[in-house]
Amino acid sequence: MAKRIDVENLNIFYGKFQAVQGVSMTIEPRSVTAFIGSSGCGKSTVLRTLNRMHEVIPGGRVEGQVLLDGQDLYASGVDPVGVRRTVGMVFQRPNPFPTMTIRDNVAAGLRLNGVKNKKKLDEVVERSLRGANLWNEVKDRLDKPGAGLSGGQQQRLCIARAIAVEPQVLLMDEPCSALDPISTLAIEDLITELKPKYTIVIVTHNMQQAARVSDRTAFFNLEAQGKPGRLIEIDDTTRIFNNPKERATEDYISGRFG
Ligand SMILES: Nc1ncnc2c1ncn2[C@@H]1O[C@H](COP(=O)(O)OP(=O)(O)O)[C@@H](O)[C@H]1O
Ligand SMILES: [Mg+2]
Repeated sequence: MAKRIDVENLNIFYGKFQAVQGVSMTIEPRSVTAFIGSSGCGKSTVLRTLNRMHEVIPGGRVEGQVLLDGQDLYASGVDPVGVRRTVGMVFQRPNPFPTMTIRDNVAAGLRLNGVKNKKKLDEVVERSLRGANLWNEVKDRLDKPGAGLSGGQQQRLCIARAIAVEPQVLLMDEPCSALDPISTLAIEDLITELKPKYTIVIVTHNMQQAARVSDRTAFFNLEAQGKPGRLIEIDDTTRIFNNPKERATEDYISGRFG
């Protein structure tokens, strides 16, 4: 189910502005990869190219390849909507559909795919909420609005919504940045539980979080303001935090910038 991602020489643009230059990396299935680096170095931009969300932004353009088990997501004839189903995404701020019930939030993607059978929908809702560690908290209020949940519950609801359509890859852009420490730990535990079934990429500003949840860490940096962001190195997380190859990585993880 989980798929391997090979990124090859990615250049990413917003109109004339090149935001990211020359990124190549391999992301292994059934692993968690953390993207770290200072603000503006292109972490979110790279993440959005992994499910073709970047091109939704006006002027958004990509050069290079992103291969999912060897298949180029950017090859002609590939349907970006299908790509986004295979490569799910969870955002920084929990964004459940506010007026929809908890049940309908989770079922929304399946309904879009044309599933109407109530029994099937109920099964998927339960399985996804269990998978997101939320079932016990919401099973008696499935028909209440998603907006009534706490921030941490809403983020788990968004994860349930993402996994309901059975993606192979899960992208998470700072999924805990709006959450309190307890909810953050719940999401981190969940990421660890999901890992055997998915390929997970998480952007985080929290280095302890990267150290706790990820197997591999990619450090991005800007050479200078206005220059494109680059991948400085990617390696086992313990290596990046204890013995990185690059000086810039060491400066960043030890809190010494530049
Ligand atoms: N929608 C956008 N339009 C134009 N430029 C953008 C847009 N989003 C991000 N950028 C620019 O791309 C660069 C990388 O941003 P981003 O990927 O958001 O960095 P990070 O996630 O590492 O903080 C920055 O210079 C940022 O200003
Ligand atoms: Mg970002």
